[in-house]
Amino acid sequence: MSPPKLLSVHLIILLSAFTGPANGYYNSRWAECIYSSSDYSDMVYIDGYYFNKYLVVQFNSTVGEYVGFTELGVRTAEALNKNTALMQQERAEVDRFCKHNAQGFDSAVRDKTEKPNINVRSVKESDGKHPAVLLCSAYRFYPQRIKVTWLKNNVPVTSDVTSTDEMPNGDWYYQIHSHLEYTPKSGEKISCMVEHASSTKPMIVDWEPAIAQSERNKIAIGASGLVLGIIIAAAGLIYYKKKSSGRILVPH
Ligand SMILES: *[C@@H]1O[C@H](CO)[C@@H](O)[C@H](O)[C@H]1NC(C)=O
Repeated sequence: MSPPKLLSVHLIILLSAFTGPANGYYNSRWAECIYSSSDYSDMVYIDGYYFNKYLVVQFNSTVGEYVGFTELGVRTAEALNKNTALMQQERAEVDRFCKHNAQGFDSAVRDKTEKPNINVRSVKESDGKHPAVLLCSAYRFYPQRIKVTWLKNNVPVTSDVTSTDEMPNGDWYYQIHSHLEYTPKSGEKISCMVEHASSTKPMIVDWEPAIAQSERNKIAIGASGLVLGIIIAAAGLIYYKKKSSGRILVPH
């Protein structure tokens, strides 16, 4: 990455930095590759030299040559731009350095995706006066961009929805939470639709209303009664069979 000629320029700047009082000067060189398109057609290579926080001289591949930003920088740029071998090298860096590395980084990081784990649950039951609140959560997805939509009978709901931003977990993954306030209606299907780069199709999770506690008790009592009834009936049947098999039928 550092051709010898460039390195020597680097050293000249470094030496000039230390001719002043030696109490903390900072000389740095930053090579940057800036792009946003996936075919790298907008790739820009920037090679900048800084003294403390000040940009001294910079090569910008769009400009195609060095530009000085201080008096020393202007003189340095002038000298560097006359160096045809160096210029050739710097102009080739967009392909050799930037595009090459971008390919590596993109396949290792940018193009990776991870499907979210989605769940829909009720966080507040309706009490007749206030609506119920449902929560749709998507966990552990990558990358950050995601779209969460509530559906009522497969039709998107726009009102009574509040959503958090995508929250970073700190481990590259993200999570997001969306609330829906809604008044339950029988026969109405509520679903949460998640669109994300990890899936070509939208991911849809239907809300399955949990049965309320009082309903659960009724079902439990009913089921116990049914089981008890079956046991009694079976016992009766066995008893009847035993009795009838012990009886001898005497023909008249
Ligand atoms: C590089 O040069 C182009 C054209 O002058 C300019 O639009 C762009 O902002 C420059 N990039 C940087 C990081 O300075």
